[in-house]
Amino acid sequence: MTKVCIVGASGKLGKYMVQHALDRGYAVVGVCRERSVEKLDAFKGRITVIPGATNDREVIKRAVAGCDGVLVVLAPMGVHQNASGTAQAVLDYADAGARLVLSCGWHITRDGQDVYSWKIKVLVNVVGRLARLARVVDLDDQVEACRRVFASDTRWTVVRGSDLEEGESQGLPVWSRHVGDPILESNMTRRVDFALFMVAALENDELVHEAPAIVGCKTPSRLAHAAGT
Ligand SMILES: NC(=O)c1ccc[n+]([C@@H]2O[C@H](COP(=O)([O-])OP(=O)(O)OC[C@H]3O[C@@H](n4cnc5c(N)ncnc54)[C@H](OP(=O)(O)O)[C@@H]3O)[C@@H](O)[C@H]2O)c1
Repeated sequence: MTKVCIVGASGKLGKYMVQHALDRGYAVVGVCRERSVEKLDAFKGRITVIPGATNDREVIKRAVAGCDGVLVVLAPMGVHQNASGTAQAVLDYADAGARLVLSCGWHITRDGQDVYSWKIKVLVNVVGRLARLARVVDLDDQVEACRRVFASDTRWTVVRGSDLEEGESQGLPVWSRHVGDPILESNMTRRVDFALFMVAALENDELVHEAPAIVGCKTPSRLAHAAGT
């Protein structure tokens, strides 16, 4: 891996990914909205920034050219197909054979085998619907984005994040195929480690065509799982 594009680089997750990618010595191209470019000032001179909407196909075409890895923050923000437009542009324009790693939450299911707590169901079905009515968030569009990725023959990984918290890195999160698996019960990951998992996935071929649901490596459910094995 030599050059990676980070789509959604100016967000909280995005900035952590930029740092992890630089730490690994990759050349970094970041895409973010024009108004958010200054959020990347700390990386000035060390990364290339391409300003523009992440679902603008021409912006993505330019940004992913020559990249062997593409990290995508799939954010369900707004009601203008932000997530699905972004995913489609990346699927269409990333170099053949590039590793694509996209972020979403546990609510995304690949095979319908996930088992959700009442809390997640309420969050998606009630809060999600209200947020869509308020035209702030469109979870259905994130579902559509992932459906398109799952159906593609690119070298994708969709990383499904648990609830997130800030704080120092605890190390690489662990993962499981299905929400509801006991190891994931704690439902908490440090955001910096979510980013670490995304960047590490670029060079982990075992994760190609997987949708890992992740949890922090120091969470009680992970530690209990480790003690029992
Ligand atoms: N928050 C959680 O608890 C949680 C839990 C599980 C999984 N996740 C997943 O983690 C990823 C990032 O989540 P995060 O909470 O850390 O957020 P984040 O990194 O701050 O990302 C938010 C992204 O959305 C963009 N954005 C915000 N408002 C927008 C708008 N109106 N139109 C277009 N783009 C807009 C931001 O760009 P600007 O910098 O330009 O504003 C930024 O790139 C997502 O894939 C999410 O599904 C989050």
